[in-house]
Amino acid sequence: MNIRNNLIASKALGHRQAWLTAYDYPSARLLDESGIDLILVGDSLGMVVLGQKDTIDVTLDEIIHHLKAVRRGVKNAPVAADLPFHTYQTPEQALASARRLVEAGADAVKLEGPLPDQIALLVSNGIEVIGHLGMLPQHVREEGGYHRKGKTESEAEAILQASFALQAAGCCALVLEIVEETLAGEISRQLDIPTIGIGSGIQCDGQILVTPDLLGLQPWFRPAFVKPKADLATPFQSAVREYIRETKEAFKTE
Ligand code: KIV
Repeated sequence: MNIRNNLIASKALGHRQAWLTAYDYPSARLLDESGIDLILVGDSLGMVVLGQKDTIDVTLDEIIHHLKAVRRGVKNAPVAADLPFHTYQTPEQALASARRLVEAGADAVKLEGPLPDQIALLVSNGIEVIGHLGMLPQHVREEGGYHRKGKTESEAEAILQASFALQAAGCCALVLEIVEETLAGEISRQLDIPTIGIGSGIQCDGQILVTPDLLGLQPWFRPAFVKPKADLATPFQSAVREYIRETKEAFKTE
């Protein structure tokens, strides 16, 4: 599949992209059978599956482990996987890491930041790449939190120029995380590849969310921009409590 050509053609027709993350076989299969446009094995894995405080300690081996499970559950949607922090510091390192993701079943890889040299080398080796600008979670520690990007003129201009560079380097799509809505709209109008917003307003060409946030599975952490479509933590716990009660009743000794 040529994801870049498909995405550019789809954007030209005015179609919006609905993307979600998955980390395991059953979720991936349910998303795919629901008709999702793309499934990302994100390094949000660290936070929503492994119980870490951010994405920074996620390893390439961990992404590969979960990617293989996701791959087994997906028949239709493209599957993308994140290159974890410090696995793409040079173009050569990026290529070696991305090849491991492709071997494990990724149709595309995603990396954070304005790194056109890394992206160009991957693309010239036949690897589809999704860019990621705005708030870069792999830099949250040095930034001291998840802050909105593009508020000042100079920051907005830097993000706009970086988006041109990433498209020119061959990205098939660009994730814009917590970017000012007007800037996200401007970038979306200027690029041929689709912009995929997360907390960046409705002017992007599509949206990606972390699936447990969408489904209300982690009530202890909910990003402000997410409007959950379900509250699955509640039926989850009711079922478990009912099971506990029934089991204890059934096995009660006289
Ligand atoms: O790791 C992740 O889940 C992401 C987001 C953009 C959804 O990169």
